[in-house]
Amino acid sequence: MAVNLKGRSFLTLMDFTPEEIRYMLDLAHDLKSKKRAGIHNKVLDGKNIVLLFEKTSTRTRCAFEVAAMDEGAGVTFLDSGSSQMGKKESMEDTAKVLGRFYDGIEYRGFDQEVVEGLAKYAGVPVWNGLTDVDHPTQILADLMTIEEHCAKPLNRVKVVFSGDIRNNMSYAWMYGCAKMGMHYVAYGPDELMAELDQDVIAKVQEVAKTTGAVIEVSSDPKSLEGADVIYADVWASMGEEAEIPERVRLLTPFKVTEELMASTGNPDCLFMHCLPSFHDFETKMAKSQMELGFDIREVTDEVFRSKNSVVFDEAENRMHTIKAVIVATIA
Ligand code: CP
Ligand code: NVA
Repeated sequence: MAVNLKGRSFLTLMDFTPEEIRYMLDLAHDLKSKKRAGIHNKVLDGKNIVLLFEKTSTRTRCAFEVAAMDEGAGVTFLDSGSSQMGKKESMEDTAKVLGRFYDGIEYRGFDQEVVEGLAKYAGVPVWNGLTDVDHPTQILADLMTIEEHCAKPLNRVKVVFSGDIRNNMSYAWMYGCAKMGMHYVAYGPDELMAELDQDVIAKVQEVAKTTGAVIEVSSDPKSLEGADVIYADVWASMGEEAEIPERVRLLTPFKVTEELMASTGNPDCLFMHCLPSFHDFETKMAKSQMELGFDIREVTDEVFRSKNSVVFDEAENRMHTIKAVIVATIA
């Protein structure tokens, strides 16, 4: 059956079938080739989108802006300090107003319920640019990057996420791998396993039964064996900075080092990271935490800069995949 995503919101990959995800990936590959060839069909000519950011961003914001402008759409950016939303106006009223002005709304913030509420009331597609429990546009970019670098289909790829296994990226990976029939291991400490949302685990296991995916949670280094991708993210996500001392204690054994990469037994194993990353002391945060005695680097500089690291290809692919999502839903 032909895939048609026009008018759909993009809140989580769990809302999409494997065929629909395949469609967005194919569109992203096509749009990337077209951009490389200097072809812009301006399929969003006459459209306008608004970007709501309650947390900071470099990649997601710029990806939405460039993607929209490449295809001829107008863009408005609002951060939490520059709109009425949440302070003087409810999310419901804001959604109803923005839905009258715009053809699509991107939202980055804390609660998944907010992005769901915007989608309920706006009357136009809403795109999730990251919440506390999901980051679906990042997974599309990561799947696209794996397809560019791994000479096998997604359903034969094993991804091991090493670190804060209960964060938005880890859950987003569970959804992506479950849908695409992949092997996913959340590799982290037993203490964080206890914090995992069991409803989510049950839901992804249900999907896995239909796609052949394998979704595991493990603190055993043996689970690294045969990985095609080692994936890392910061140990304390935006809004969780107070957790840094405890996370450093728990997650230092899960730092991605050359030894950890070697224990996959796969010399071609990719290193991936959504970015931003602490891999050296060239940031205020890494430096000031080190002065307090906390080494917050989730990956060594050697691995981050190694030939197996594809982190900047991933970053570029945020733009091509976000363009695919916008085009598929509002063009
Ligand atoms: N990966 C990602 O979402 O980056 P930003 O926080 O810079 O948007
Ligand atoms: N887990 C990170 C992802 C950033 C893209 C955070 O939420 O801060």
